[in-house]
Amino acid sequence: MNCGLVNSGQAPLNDKENSYGWVDNLSRLQDGWSLPSAFYCQHSVYQADLDRIWRRGWLFATHSCELKEPGTYTVLELDTDSILITRGTDGQVRAFHNVCRHRGSLLCTERNGKAARIVCPYHQWSYDLAGRLTGCRGMPDDFDKTRFSLKPVAVREITGLIFINILEAPETFDAAHASMGPVMKPQRIERARVAFEAEYRVAANWKVVWENNRECYHCNSNHPEYIRANFDHYNSDDTTPEIRKRLVEVTQRMESKWAATGLAPTHRETGMTRFPDAARQIWYSANRTVLVDGWVSETLDGKQVAPLMGDYLDPDVGTVRVRTLPNFWMHASCDHVVTTRLLPAGPETTLIRVAWLVDERAVADVDYQLDRMLPFWKNTSEQDWEICENQQRGIRSSAYEPGPYSPAKEYNVDAFVRWYRTMLSLSPSAKQPPTPQR
Ligand code: FES
Ligand code: FE
Repeated sequence: MNCGLVNSGQAPLNDKENSYGWVDNLSRLQDGWSLPSAFYCQHSVYQADLDRIWRRGWLFATHSCELKEPGTYTVLELDTDSILITRGTDGQVRAFHNVCRHRGSLLCTERNGKAARIVCPYHQWSYDLAGRLTGCRGMPDDFDKTRFSLKPVAVREITGLIFINILEAPETFDAAHASMGPVMKPQRIERARVAFEAEYRVAANWKVVWENNRECYHCNSNHPEYIRANFDHYNSDDTTPEIRKRLVEVTQRMESKWAATGLAPTHRETGMTRFPDAARQIWYSANRTVLVDGWVSETLDGKQVAPLMGDYLDPDVGTVRVRTLPNFWMHASCDHVVTTRLLPAGPETTLIRVAWLVDERAVADVDYQLDRMLPFWKNTSEQDWEICENQQRGIRSSAYEPGPYSPAKEYNVDAFVRWYRTMLSLSPSAKQPPTPQR
């Protein structure tokens, strides 16, 4: 496996040189080119990714509607960390390390469930839904239970989505909420339910998956469903006057139609919206963009396939796209939402959950049919996972060496890699860099 330096002619690095190998030599990377294979397959880089990105950033965990009742819980596995997220009797969502304070057993071993209290399966120490130790039979009478509460994890619930952060004192979520909230609000994901979910174990590094997500260079030849609905696969080098005219017409029609309601397209161009903002290290983004004329939903024929969601009164609302690094993106039409969550499970493995949500009152086989709703994003997602696995296999070859990005089509891949390099250059204990207001 070639995990060495390939562009500068310098000697390859290996894990023995220092604890993080490549990570301590980021200045030797070539701007505008893909990363050396070590970043996609070497364990020391993966550990740095965990310490400096995944255990520092806000991670999408689940949807509010999946933790509706007090005592419902879900468990999120971040590599070796297990996080328990539950709703208390007071309605508050809380998160804890899913680790018993006695001798460390995992507490909840099922991925989802409902419980009035959290009981360790080993010696039955028990905790309330606020994480306080309430029962520890066999310990002395004067044992101080207050010293053994579950270790808390920061949590934020915004517009129907639940995010967690493992840092003890994480960066506030407020700027992200202020930026994304107004775009997401009309969708009312807090009044949705999960209609279907698909889980994938993709044999590719998590950055391979993001880099694929950040460009539509591959769309025309790989995503026959997606390109029928969207303008963003047209880039500056292949946008004809006819395409521009169509985009302007549909944008103007939408703007005039929705002017009174507060809905408005926030991305009015061909090509993908720019994300992330590497210079300012902005890791969140939400925008509403138009679909091609005649399409009101990201479905195979563009037709509405489920009841309108949220505050929408008309199906012609374009599509809402949201992304938060390092693990979440979302595509929402008038009638359904598709969320994608990534979790790393090794240098060359990414666990991916894709969920389809509809209005909470919609009834399966009455108000919607899954076989009409699923194919668009299921096909497109699975096409991408196959691409990612093929790329990962090529990266592992002794013949792989970094290649150049297209400025016209891969500007967001370049931005992602620059964001990544900055995050990696921060010490593991640092918070994310301050994110200036837009
Ligand atoms: Fe949990 Fe002993 S390890 S009660
Ligand atoms: Fe794709």
